[in-house]
Amino acid sequence: MSPVRPLPEKGRSKDELLDAMRAMKARDARWREGRVFSLVYYVDDDLLEVLQAASALFFSENALNPTAFPSVRRMETEVVAMTAGLLGGDEDTVGTLTSGGTESLLMAVKTARDWGRAEKGITEPEMVLPVTAHPAFEKAAHYFGVRPVHIPVGPDFRADVDALQRALTPNTVLVVGSAPSYPQGVMDPIPEMAAIAQAHGALFHVDACVGGFMLPFVRELGYPVPPFDFRVPGVTSISADAHKYGYAAKGVSVILYRDAGLRRYQFFAYTDWPGGIYASPSMAGTRPAGPIAAAWAVMHYLGRAGYLRLAQQAMQTAQRLQAAFAAIPGLFVYGEPVMTVFAVGSREPYEVYELADEMARRGWHLDRQHRPPSLHFTIVPAHARVVDAFLDDWHAAVAQVRRPSPRRTLERGLVRFTAWLLRMLPARVSRALIRLAPKLFRGSGDEALPHKAAPMYGLMGTLPQREDVQEAVLDLLDQLFRPPEG
Ligand SMILES: Cc1ncc(COP(=O)(O)O)c(C=O)c1O
Repeated sequence: MSPVRPLPEKGRSKDELLDAMRAMKARDARWREGRVFSLVYYVDDDLLEVLQAASALFFSENALNPTAFPSVRRMETEVVAMTAGLLGGDEDTVGTLTSGGTESLLMAVKTARDWGRAEKGITEPEMVLPVTAHPAFEKAAHYFGVRPVHIPVGPDFRADVDALQRALTPNTVLVVGSAPSYPQGVMDPIPEMAAIAQAHGALFHVDACVGGFMLPFVRELGYPVPPFDFRVPGVTSISADAHKYGYAAKGVSVILYRDAGLRRYQFFAYTDWPGGIYASPSMAGTRPAGPIAAAWAVMHYLGRAGYLRLAQQAMQTAQRLQAAFAAIPGLFVYGEPVMTVFAVGSREPYEVYELADEMARRGWHLDRQHRPPSLHFTIVPAHARVVDAFLDDWHAAVAQVRRPSPRRTLERGLVRFTAWLLRMLPARVSRALIRLAPKLFRGSGDEALPHKAAPMYGLMGTLPQREDVQEAVLDLLDQLFRPPEG
């Protein structure tokens, strides 16, 4: 089908359009009912209304030019300042808002690259990062020409400090640690890593995108949280996403620097354009003011007391779920998650993928992870209301996947056999087969994603031909960014 479509000849009424759009939503993941464990950080409809109203009030303003909209500038700088206050900043701490965690990480890497070039004459910059660091760092490395040097994590999924020591070179401009990491929700050893980076004369970025608006409150509630913020010597920048546990509307993250000298390397200015002098703090030009306004509003709406209450609610739900998972023989939680982000694994490695398929049939959307095979859980306050229903379905799903089934045995065997075969076949043949895989497991209708994901995940995660797997994923992306058929 052609990817080109004409504009509709005539416009439609607002009511008709909104009805059509509501109908389109029918098959989306049901975040409002707490049925998604990533992607949406939902509290309740009261908070949603505050976000929507604040965002609507600044719907058309453009944060590109802070002199035209002093109100937006005020809200932006205050959100940054309050975040710095949460994360151990002092009178030197500065930052900017970005569109999300990815842009904050892009900025941290670009800043380090330009800092290394200007202050140390490094022309072939390198960045050392644990394998569990968010892929946005890889994207940054790719975009900005910084070589990523990966270090392993230990059996506890925390960065290996000795490996970090060995990975440093005279070209290292940046070392990265997560607080916590997304895949298993564990804290990298930030103080040790930051000390090593500092002794080496490199910058150290703490990715607190998911933890930045949670850990300070989790600590205040009395749970153990290791040091991770600007109070740790050697930490030079921190990212914290207001649109995650800050409960803001999507499109806001905070990137903080220890001082203004460092932040300057993030900025961009061009003074010779006929259109005037152009200056911009981050990747985007035009920046929507709505998300900035919503972030400012939610921080004032909740206050410290509100964030503490929500942190307690999410922590209690997460701990209840973890205890329930660990009580089922053959299932376990990986590592020692510090807050409300964690991963569940199974002794029979593919079982978790089958569980995800079973839970999907029951209307729960769970993200699959590999290395090791696991299901991801990001717990938000909305989950407190559905934890019983979730556990009922979870127990039913476990019983279902453990019931003797010739089909399931065949499927597991087939995955193992195919993985073996793909290792044995000539590269040319295996490449063609791997690129076919997403199509083989494709759903019907307008589902661009595989509808039975367990076999595909089981297979794709273990194959050594990573470049071929990458090509297959890019093929899938190509499909996803075309209009669905029908
Ligand atoms: C630790 C961490 N860093 C960075 C990101 C990227 O954030 P975003 O999706 O807002 O770009 C995420 C997203 O989940 C994350 O968990």
